[in-house]
Amino acid sequence: MKDLYIRKMSLIDCPPKDSYLNRLPVVKHLAEHGIEFHRQVTFFVGENGSGKSTLIEALAVSQGFNPEGGTKNFRFSTEDSHSSLYYHLRVARGAVYPRDGFFLRAESFYNVASNIDQMDREPGVGSPVINSYGGVSLHKQSHGESFLALAENRFSGRGLYILDEPEAALSPRGIIRLIRRMDELVKQDSQFIISTHSPMLLAFPEAEVYQIREDGIRSVRFQDTEHYRTTVRFLQNPESAMEDILGRDS
Ligand SMILES: Nc1ncnc2c1ncn2[C@@H]1O[C@H](COP(=O)(O)OP(=O)(O)OP(=O)(O)O)[C@@H](O)[C@H]1O
Ligand SMILES: [Mg+2]
Repeated sequence: MKDLYIRKMSLIDCPPKDSYLNRLPVVKHLAEHGIEFHRQVTFFVGENGSGKSTLIEALAVSQGFNPEGGTKNFRFSTEDSHSSLYYHLRVARGAVYPRDGFFLRAESFYNVASNIDQMDREPGVGSPVINSYGGVSLHKQSHGESFLALAENRFSGRGLYILDEPEAALSPRGIIRLIRRMDELVKQDSQFIISTHSPMLLAFPEAEVYQIREDGIRSVRFQDTEHYRTTVRFLQNPESAMEDILGRDS
């Protein structure tokens, strides 16, 4: 892939002074430095509440995706809960347009599934929408099954995939399937921008990992993220880790 679809995010202007957005480290960083994309896979990792979803939702909305998720054709909205950050965003795009795209939010995937069923209930020409998702209503599959059906059937390459915690529904084996599918899609000129808490996903080869902290955003090795270190320390000796966490001596 010669050029990325999304090369840089920055701010045109700042959100209103009294907005909570100005308190988020990601927004301060965007205002001062912007965020550059160098790799086909970029991860954002950081504590709960650090602003990952706010950031990638704003990017997705700025690129014409429905704030609750889906392809660019999804127009439903159950709750108008997205922030106004997209409005202040400047996005530098590559020369080539993606052919495919999807914005996934773990918390509203249910609504995406309902919207597909709804579209297929309405009279229309052409084959049912669900066919491109594997043919089985996403509501008739488990949360993890339906997400894997989406990635394995609907994502078709040369795409921009913006995913918010895609691991949320997946078992470790499910994460391995997702990693394999991501590898295929990367080879087919796709770009992934992902917020995650999964140390397994973070190890994806040649990905760039941006760690969000109070003092800003830094590109780090996945081995240096708190998520990876804390998980490794725990798994190396779970009994002793539990004693530390619970303040008990064996
Ligand atoms: N409408 C709002 N008004 C005030 N604060 C808000 C509003 N929406 C979100 N926030 C705050 O913005 C912060 C960033 O939220 P965000 O969902 O982006 O975090 P996150 O990094 O995705 O967290 P997680 O890992 O838990 O998904 C949170 O502290 C949240 O409470
Ligand atoms: Mg989030």
